[in-house]
Amino acid sequence: MTESSQRKLIIAIDGPAGAGKSTIASRLARKLGYVNLESGAMYRALALKAIEWDVSFDEEAALFKLAQNSRIQLEPSLGGNRVLLDGRDVTQRAREIDVTEAASRVSVHPKVREWMVARQQAMGAGGGVVMEGRDIGTKVFPAAEVKIFLDADPVVREQRRLLQHQLKGRAAAATAAELRDRDQRDRTRAASPLVPAPDALMLDSTELSEDEVLERVEQLVRQKLG
Ligand code: DC
Repeated sequence: MTESSQRKLIIAIDGPAGAGKSTIASRLARKLGYVNLESGAMYRALALKAIEWDVSFDEEAALFKLAQNSRIQLEPSLGGNRVLLDGRDVTQRAREIDVTEAASRVSVHPKVREWMVARQQAMGAGGGVVMEGRDIGTKVFPAAEVKIFLDADPVVREQRRLLQHQLKGRAAAATAAELRDRDQRDRTRAASPLVPAPDALMLDSTELSEDEVLERVEQLVRQKLG
């Protein structure tokens, strides 16, 4: 694909944790010369601020106020997004298990989601973006030209996560349990639960290699670019 002369699409990649979204989104963005935006990192940044400011994950109004008083920035880089919270680089901290759990809890609140969605829409409005998350094809960009829903068998997703973080023993068991809880919460929350958009291409990466997934996504992009 020679992209620079092409129309700049909005590409939405949704799916549960461990399905391979980040890898595919960043490889695809690199190939297309697009920007990769990890929307989950924004929820993680807010969750971290809630931890630091001792704001309860269940208090919607307080979390909304916290969000309004926060500056959350994503800076695309080769290894994924750099996450800045009020100007501070929190990329590594935001990936830790307590923040991961908290992100899933703060993201259930409709007002928090509204605030996030508005910012995500502004970030991707110009096109030329691959945005990944849970509600990109349904809520953030329901008119995105390309929508992918990437899923995989839960056991495989767990194994990938453990391998990625090189976890064994109790740490592995805790992470696996956290992934299951988070999955359940993301899929069953009332506001924007994780569901595929009706017009999303459904991809199951259980038995597919990264290259195979990428190839299928690229096929769809080529089709859309005509
Ligand atoms: O993609 P991630 O694992 O970094 O996301 C962290 C949490 O943020 C996830 O448990 C659910 C929430 N999230 C969301 O509700 N909507 C998104 N678009 C992205 C993430």
